[in-house]
Amino acid sequence: MTSASASPILKSSHLLGIEGISAPEVTALLDLAETYAALNRGANKKVALLKGRTLVNLFFEASTRTQSSFELAGKRMGADVLNMSVKTSSVSKGETLIDTAATLNAMRPDILVVRHHDSGAAELLSRKLDCSVVNAGDGQHEHPTQALLDALTIRRRRGSFNGLTVAICGDILHSRVARSNIRLLSLMGARVRLIAPGTLLPAQADRFGVEVFTDMRAGLAGVDIVMMLRLQLERMTGAFVPSTREYFRFYGLDREKLSFAKPGALVMHPGPMNRGVEIASDIADDMEVSLIAEQVEMGVAIRMAVLDALSRGMK
Ligand code: NCD
Repeated sequence: MTSASASPILKSSHLLGIEGISAPEVTALLDLAETYAALNRGANKKVALLKGRTLVNLFFEASTRTQSSFELAGKRMGADVLNMSVKTSSVSKGETLIDTAATLNAMRPDILVVRHHDSGAAELLSRKLDCSVVNAGDGQHEHPTQALLDALTIRRRRGSFNGLTVAICGDILHSRVARSNIRLLSLMGARVRLIAPGTLLPAQADRFGVEVFTDMRAGLAGVDIVMMLRLQLERMTGAFVPSTREYFRFYGLDREKLSFAKPGALVMHPGPMNRGVEIASDIADDMEVSLIAEQVEMGVAIRMAVLDALSRGMK
């Protein structure tokens, strides 16, 4: 059995969120990920660091990018990877999670990657299991590897975070990506702006130490990076927006609105995208401004770096 302890890169034996991580830890992870980004562009993409280890991907919510990149990351590092997609329809959430934790523990995994619709699910599992736990998205709470891959993508293009202004736009209320990114970008010295209709802003959004705008053109003025978020219709219980057409008119990123950002500003989106709802197709597909494909590429590198960092603390 793995008894996980602190590694020289990460103080914790888990990655549950950006909260609690220090700037030097982030820098060390990004530096390590650079080596994997280079490895991934070569012909031999494999290292043997996780040989003999077992990585379990436990996804209670649908995922394309995150799950496949953790799978690829684990395989490229030599681990045995088990993908478990869980249907939760008839079982109550609490029971499922605790029961699943006991079953998983008996399989003696070394690393568990978990995505769950409840905030705090990854943390709960980390207390019940003996292995390292990585949060791949818990409810509206955190999605740390997404924020890390976004940071790596930005740093590769802009060199550092100091002096950068990043606008996070759209459905901030329902977004764990936004919460992790706000924390990470602020920690690394970037200025963060939130732009959203009032109905999609968390209560007391200004408490995050960010500037808040409800007008796209005003919020985008002079920004270096525009990070668009998916309108998370599946998380909406009431009428948060009048219609998706109306939403695009006021909050969808098109050329005209983008023209208010700094010349040369770059556009990001964690995916999956709703084209024509939060972002115009011609911007998403414009390789001069869109970093979306690079974000996916850096996703694999970041996940390899996280697995590497956690494995260094393992017995
Ligand atoms: C995000 C997620 O699942 O939180 N997607 C992702 O991980 N690439 C964002 C989203 O679902 O909109």
